[in-house]
Amino acid sequence: MPSIISYPLILVNLKTYSEAMGKKAVELAETAEKVHNETGVCIAIAPQTVDIPPIIKATGIPVFAQHVDPVGHGKYTGHILPEAMAEAGCVGTLISHSERRLELETIKATIDRAKEAELTQVVCVDTITRGRQVAPFSPDAIAIEPPELIGTGTPVSKAKPEIVSGSVEEVHRVNPKIKVLCGAGITCGEDFTAALSLGAEGILVASGVVKAESPYEKFLELANAIKA
Ligand code: G3P
Repeated sequence: MPSIISYPLILVNLKTYSEAMGKKAVELAETAEKVHNETGVCIAIAPQTVDIPPIIKATGIPVFAQHVDPVGHGKYTGHILPEAMAEAGCVGTLISHSERRLELETIKATIDRAKEAELTQVVCVDTITRGRQVAPFSPDAIAIEPPELIGTGTPVSKAKPEIVSGSVEEVHRVNPKIKVLCGAGITCGEDFTAALSLGAEGILVASGVVKAESPYEKFLELANAIKA
């Protein structure tokens, strides 16, 4: 499978879940690739940094960094260099996830550096206002995720549909080329369908897949929701 991103996109953030690190992260990526091959739906994975090389070796699935820093080569001990992620084979990066939140000016600097490294940028925002503030920086995608719904199983697309449609409207008012994703509490195909009908072009999902009894069945359910 070529490492390209297409929409509607299922982007799975593995965070630091024990169910999705090391060998299990590779297995999850292989499962995602299998479902991609069966359905044609693009499934990308954002694993822990250390798990990126084995996933890229084992699969052709698009891989995202969970975070990069807006630094260059040189005296930046402990930072994550965008070019290093690109060279490792990542196609993109999350920026300012609500569990790794950045100030607005750092978001802009990180988008700029990620662009230089040719990484697709998915910026996470918690409100419509934040989405409107980030849109002028022209990232590839903005993911709206109300933090209070993360990991709850209560989907943003149903609990707060106005935040999804409002984000789509406001972001596109600034720049219609930016893809809007949504996340938080997505656990089933119906949640994904609801997100798409609100104008989102993909989902950012974690626990619903990582903690599923059968990640294969869960990936399949989400991928098939696009056809619904
Ligand atoms: O990055 C995805 C995310 O924060 C949503 O988490 O567990 O609610 O799908 P979850």
